[in-house]
Amino acid sequence: KKTYKIAVIAGDGIGPEVLTEGIKVLNRVAELDGSFEFEFTHFPWGCEYYLSNGKMMDDDGLEQLKAFDAIYLGAVGFPGVPDHISLWDLLLKIRKGFDQYVNIRPIKLLEGAPCPLKDISRDQIDMLVIRENSEGEYAGAGDWLFKGQPHEVVLQTGVFSRNGVERIIRYAYEEARKQGKSLTSISKGNALNYSMVFWDQVFDEVGREYPDVKTHSYLVDAAAMFFVKQPWRFEIVVTSNLFGDIITDLGAAIAGGLGLAAGANINPTREFPSMFEPIHGSAPDIAGKGIANPLATIWSASQILDFFGHDDWGKEVLNSIEKVMLEGEVLTPDMGGQSSTQEVGQAVTGKLNIFLKK
Ligand code: NAD
Ligand code: IPM
Ligand code: MN
Repeated sequence: KKTYKIAVIAGDGIGPEVLTEGIKVLNRVAELDGSFEFEFTHFPWGCEYYLSNGKMMDDDGLEQLKAFDAIYLGAVGFPGVPDHISLWDLLLKIRKGFDQYVNIRPIKLLEGAPCPLKDISRDQIDMLVIRENSEGEYAGAGDWLFKGQPHEVVLQTGVFSRNGVERIIRYAYEEARKQGKSLTSISKGNALNYSMVFWDQVFDEVGREYPDVKTHSYLVDAAAMFFVKQPWRFEIVVTSNLFGDIITDLGAAIAGGLGLAAGANINPTREFPSMFEPIHGSAPDIAGKGIANPLATIWSASQILDFFGHDDWGKEVLNSIEKVMLEGEVLTPDMGGQSSTQEVGQAVTGKLNIFLKK
């Protein structure tokens, strides 16, 4: 029997609440399949850990995580610890430390998902956002000059390396070719006269190797508008770290809400483990109430199954989410229901079916 070793970082706020349900789903899948199992190892890292130990994770944290087949993360960040510390010392540290330079965020309107847009059909919101996840606006470079003085100046430098930009754009072209879909680059060359001019140039250069892939290029402000007005324009989307962060919350909103949006942080070389998480945060406003929507985290469980080559099970998890939403009886308040996190996790788990393998 194959054993997948998963490092679990439940983290802060609703993180542990939603992750419990994702783990339930994975265990049920393994039980139904019979040919593999999951071994979960929990790491207590996060803001509480910081408050008692003075650090977000152990000093050799990355070393400890290296041996795992994947990392399953809830959420990081909570009032009481400054966000730039909690995030840089845990979430961003893992993304960068393990060179998870591809952030894959599906924006797809599942059956039964609540959509705030008028007159939209299911097939009109079906995109894959491929976000650069290792550098760009998140390079962490900058300076704070004359701090506290009237003439203080703060610099936040974006870093767009040839290697960093080319590899994410190439990854996106490959994906578009594989799926036979169009590729849209989202950038901002009109105002960001270095970084995004370079981005656009690389997008065109690499594109010459993929004459079969139909391309579009949008400025990010216009793209945000089209996400809402004509989301069907987008199929595969490639964009920078910050723009990808922002447009995927917008994407989540049009495809059922933050409670339903998942993301995979992939290290394509597989030298290091990849990390799977909901794209939402720790939701301090509802933490501890047992009403957080676990569907995003369950969707990321489906991404884990895909990643291990069990695409059939990944699909089955999405089917089960759809069944629960279509019935509409067991949903959390953000989706208009009255059920608890646990009840929704239980409902999805209960829908999973054994199917005949091809
Ligand atoms: P958030 O995503 O935590 O919450 C935004 C809003 O969406 C809140 O009203 C929240 O209640 C709601 N929401 C989010 N997830 C939900 C779910 N599963 N079910 C129901 N409602 C849900 O964003 P925020 O409030 O801006 O950030 C809170 C903290 O989380 C901050 O510390 C932030 O830095 C951190 N954060 C972490 C991650 C991560 O770990 N990947 C992502 C985003 C934000
Ligand atoms: C996300 C989050 C993170 C990001 C934050 C918490 C650093 O918003 O995963 O979308 O900006 O990448
Ligand atoms: Mn975000």
